[in-house]
Amino acid sequence: MCGIVGYAGSRQAAPVLLNGLEKLEYRGYDSAGVCVHNDGGLNAVKAKGRLSVLRDRLEGGSALPGTVGIGHTRWATHGAPSDINSHPHLSWTGKIAVVHNGIIENEARLRAKMLRKGATFQSETDTEVVANMVGYYYEKHGDFVTAVRETVMRLEGSFALGILCQDMPGTIVAVKKDSPLIFGFGEGEHFVASDVPAILKYTQTVAYLEDGDMAVFDAENVVFYDSTGEIVEKKQEKITWEMSAAERGGYDHFMIKEIFEQPKALRDTISPRLRDGQVNLDGIELSAEYLKNLRKIYLVACGSAYYVSVLAKYIIEKTCRIPTEAMMASEFRYCDPVVDERNLVIFVSQSGETADTLAALREAKRRGAQTLAIVNVVGSAIAKAADQVIYTWAGPEIAVATTKAFSTQLSVVYLLAMQMAKTLGTMSTGEYLSLVEGLEQLPYDMDRLLSPKALEKCQYLASRYHAHHDAFYIGRNIDSGICLEGSLKLKEIAYLHSEAYPAGELKHGPISLIEDGTLVVALATIEPLFDKTMANIKEVKARGADVLCVTLEELEENAAAIADSTIAIPKIHPLLQPSLSIIPLQLFSYYVALYRGCDVDKPRNLAKSVTVE
Ligand code: M6R
Repeated sequence: MCGIVGYAGSRQAAPVLLNGLEKLEYRGYDSAGVCVHNDGGLNAVKAKGRLSVLRDRLEGGSALPGTVGIGHTRWATHGAPSDINSHPHLSWTGKIAVVHNGIIENEARLRAKMLRKGATFQSETDTEVVANMVGYYYEKHGDFVTAVRETVMRLEGSFALGILCQDMPGTIVAVKKDSPLIFGFGEGEHFVASDVPAILKYTQTVAYLEDGDMAVFDAENVVFYDSTGEIVEKKQEKITWEMSAAERGGYDHFMIKEIFEQPKALRDTISPRLRDGQVNLDGIELSAEYLKNLRKIYLVACGSAYYVSVLAKYIIEKTCRIPTEAMMASEFRYCDPVVDERNLVIFVSQSGETADTLAALREAKRRGAQTLAIVNVVGSAIAKAADQVIYTWAGPEIAVATTKAFSTQLSVVYLLAMQMAKTLGTMSTGEYLSLVEGLEQLPYDMDRLLSPKALEKCQYLASRYHAHHDAFYIGRNIDSGICLEGSLKLKEIAYLHSEAYPAGELKHGPISLIEDGTLVVALATIEPLFDKTMANIKEVKARGADVLCVTLEELEENAAAIADSTIAIPKIHPLLQPSLSIIPLQLFSYYVALYRGCDVDKPRNLAKSVTVE
């Protein structure tokens, strides 16, 4: 959600900024812009729409010469997408230019104050308020860094800011609170960006800025300050993954690439934690005494990470016999949850930056709970804020619709549940060993579901069902959790209205919506509940629905006698089954989206990291 990038060096800045912005496209945006210091002035070019529009306006960058600049991809919050509302924003004095990721919550009050001081505004954005404030304090103090400091101390909300000053041609000031910002060290050049891929082409040496940190830099030098204004050293870290991990390779879309990366992502996440037939979550301390005294475990997250949490409820309750509840972070943070030191609260997040999840984490900590985060992005805000963290090793996930992060989060839930169950003695040795074996085998089982034949089947089914207007995903028990994720995939990338319900709930209302041509995707992978789900399929078929049933290979024949079409998956340990069921549902959504002509990797209105509330 919004991306910023800044460059100071000896190259032409505009092409570097455009390249960086392209790598931040995945975060979601609807307009973009850059500002370059040139001929003693600040020159900004901005454009509503895709980056290609800006690129054309800039003639690939050559229209804006200069070696120091800032760039931005904007996801509209304050004011519609337009050229004027696009960043960078200049102060009314013309001396300051600002790019911003985040939301200034006291924007209205600050805007009124700046109007009283004589500032004028062109846009509806909260960011222009920041530009005018820095402009105002710069006129007052005559010092760029002091002006930024004076401004930042008055801001409420979240921000990662990149700021230029007309009178300091080589310098960029960057500062952050609650929005991600990394600093890149090159040879005679420096970078700032919202995420690593934006600068990975130029450097693999980075520092992660903490809340309140400020970097004041030019091509040769950088000085870091902490929130108290003290000069601090920042640890330089090496990015271990290559640029190719964040590129499409030979694939048409990031989403399909990432679907295919799931077996490897699972291996990378599971293997280091399964040694000699034992789960070993290094560094995670959850003693028997602590676990026995727990009143309840909460899992708190948003979107697909919340659906992992829903699945985790089934998995943890079954294996550990501890009451477990999944909650959406946006609800948890405001519902006055019954949470104290007798609760373990687990936060699940790919980006580690989701604003609601981060706020919920702080709320849980404030109430005295022990917190544990399952996160993909190393060093992200949620990873840092939690008491303990387990990383998913999915690698960079670029497609807005999550696939491999979802699968690795689920695999961590298995590992965690097994470790806790072993500590508590709630799982038999036989069951434990069978789960260990199942987990080791899981990447191979996934490979089978990604065979050309399996893909062809999903593509065929997508060709058959893509023109439907409404879809319902139904299933029982743990299958119902997977229905939630399958349904979200379809709606977010294929823009097809879709809902998910536990199959037994249908008769309590939603069945009234089933009519001729409604698509029902039924999950029936739980043998003891198979007949029940078949009965639900008959009910919707009787009302005209077209039914696609995902079931086990040995049950396919029975399912095919009732449903219109089937997808069969191998039978594995029942608790692990969701890790396989999701694969055909991801593929199905992907192909439906293609048939419907949708922009698979950048679905409308969505952002990869939702860093605002
Ligand atoms: O980065 P997070 O895992 O915290 O993000 C949570 C959701 O925003 C995310 O899962 C979203 O629902 C995805 N678009 C799902 O594909």
